[in-house]
Amino acid sequence: MPNLCNLDDRIVPECDARIPVLDRGFLFGDSIYEVVRTVGNVPFAWPEHWARLQTSAAAIRLQLDLDEATIARRIAATLAAANHGDSYVRLVVTRGAGEAPNIDLAYATGAPCWLVMVRPLSPMSGKPARLAVVDRLRVDRKALDPATKSGNYLNNVLGLAEAKAQGATDCVMLNHDGHVTEASTSNLFARLDGTWCTPPLDAGILAGITRSLLLDFLPRCGERVVERHLSHADLERAEEMFLSSTLRDLGPITHLDGRALHGGGIGPRAEALLARFQEHSQERLRDHYGPRWQALVGNAR
Ligand SMILES: Cc1ncc(COP(=O)(O)O)c(C=O)c1O
Repeated sequence: MPNLCNLDDRIVPECDARIPVLDRGFLFGDSIYEVVRTVGNVPFAWPEHWARLQTSAAAIRLQLDLDEATIARRIAATLAAANHGDSYVRLVVTRGAGEAPNIDLAYATGAPCWLVMVRPLSPMSGKPARLAVVDRLRVDRKALDPATKSGNYLNNVLGLAEAKAQGATDCVMLNHDGHVTEASTSNLFARLDGTWCTPPLDAGILAGITRSLLLDFLPRCGERVVERHLSHADLERAEEMFLSSTLRDLGPITHLDGRALHGGGIGPRAEALLARFQEHSQERLRDHYGPRWQALVGNAR
């Protein structure tokens, strides 16, 4: 069975989906997106992803022309047709096809294009990472705020390629002030003097949904956590580190700049926290996200 997607309310095999050459997402990265994972057919943290999509739309002056219930129904229909069980869902909204390949918004006369891609979820929860701090800087907040989840990921593509060329599996990018921002598609936590530290939003990072859940969850596990600026030297002396993202949950860091941390294995705290976070996520899904999703999809019918 080929992978399915939903392009502007039509469910088609990915290989048959066609985006017009004048689509501004294709031409200029003039688009926004979210990646959501599901447990069965229920998206985890959907309200947070929907809220962030709206924030991203506002940041790029994109008027969303579908409401939450309509897109939820499209996602539900695509998940049902694909029938993968636990799934990866990528929701992309482009500014649509313009009249000409001209960046001016005056040419953006088409309706937004809505794409839902659904694939079987490859297990990445807790996947360890080897990090390298790369020369390439994270794009400045005043240029294109990393808090906006736009289709402009070339900064991250090149940061990741630089890290991989050094034998790492992911990069850490600094900002113009020399502060740590994040990895290519994950936020970063480092344990310093017994406290988990993660860069604040004004370092120029994506407001990761997993990061935000962890800021709330870690103190409930008896862990101290603060948002504070970090330097490369802070990472070098960190007791443990992990990445956070929708797909990874907590991804323990085993190496920094080619140097093995705690013998090149997974740090004991990150390992224990991962197990507790997975358990907590299942409870949240059962008690909170599941019922909300059912109500939303039910109302949309
Ligand atoms: C640049 C960047 N930072 C952080 C994250 C993690 O965000 P979330 O926890 O919402 O998946 C992502 C996810 O794609 C990302 O692209």
